Amino acid sequence: MKEIKKIGLLTSGGDAPGMNAAIRAIVRGAAYHGIEVTGIRRGFAGLIGRDFQKFNRRSVANIIQRGGTILETSRCNDMYSVEGRKKAIDALKGEGIDGCVVVGGDGSFQAASLMCQESDIAFIGVPGTIDNDIWGTDYTIGYQTAVNTALDAIDRIRDTASAFERVFFVEVMGRKSGFLAIAVGLAGGAEQIIIPEIKMDMEKLCHNLKESFKSGKRSSIIVVAEGNQVEDTINIAKYVELRLKIECRLCTLGHIQRGGSPTARDRILASFLGVAAIDALLEGKSDQAVGEVKGKIVLTPFKETWEKKKEIDHRFLKIMPILSS
Ligand code: F6P
Repeated sequence: MKEIKKIGLLTSGGDAPGMNAAIRAIVRGAAYHGIEVTGIRRGFAGLIGRDFQKFNRRSVANIIQRGGTILETSRCNDMYSVEGRKKAIDALKGEGIDGCVVVGGDGSFQAASLMCQESDIAFIGVPGTIDNDIWGTDYTIGYQTAVNTALDAIDRIRDTASAFERVFFVEVMGRKSGFLAIAVGLAGGAEQIIIPEIKMDMEKLCHNLKESFKSGKRSSIIVVAEGNQVEDTINIAKYVELRLKIECRLCTLGHIQRGGSPTARDRILASFLGVAAIDALLEGKSDQAVGEVKGKIVLTPFKETWEKKKEIDHRFLKIMPILSS
């Protein structure tokens, strides 16, 4: 087993609230065991460009409450090629790094996994994305904050929806998954949710809305995940407007959901997972991601994190029609 004396640390892909809390936990977890930490700025792009910064316990003071990532991040296409990854591996070796912690989503884990096979450097992933679409953890860092942020926006939108008796389509993030949409939809009292996992029939949507108007409802909120299989949200709203001859509005929450101070739950999750990532490296683990499943810290092979599909909780969908009637 290779001794870990120095680790690299980077954040990659979409930033998520709680990434800074994870950085803090990883740096302090490493310092606790006398391991040196090199912070890699701007994700894999910064790694290839050797954008390094020495980190110690004090470098991560006062960041637990901050959104974004102090290391900055990137989506780096170079990591899809062997040449790109070779540059990244050479950069890590040049810095004398034995192990690397990657905080990010499944795309980042795929790059890290390939580098495990192409080098003797150990890689451990910490799942950070507001989408919550990573197998091997009940929640990803950032998801629970993003739900609350989107919910806050929906509560405000509801004021206008009811004042004007309008139907509002609220688009939330979630490129390939409806985790954000189902949680925000249920907690925000939405009439309906439209998610990538379930094909939605536009006629059925119109029928449901018509029925709810008949029962006396005067305004409605429909939460749409950006990656839904039906249509662009604007086209869904236009279709409903024309079909039912009612006034609809669209609000795309967009990157508002990604920013802001992490909730206590995300800070706690990030703290546990950050420390667990260091423990995993010390135990000689590699090519795996840490996660929390049913309150227990677990390790999952990188490959499974994107190959296995985390199911949305169908209980949400079951009670939605009961509650919105
Ligand atoms: O992966 C997280 C995420 O926020 C997705 O929900 C969204 O589709 C995407 O990132 C947006 O990415 P970018 O900020 O690069 O446009």
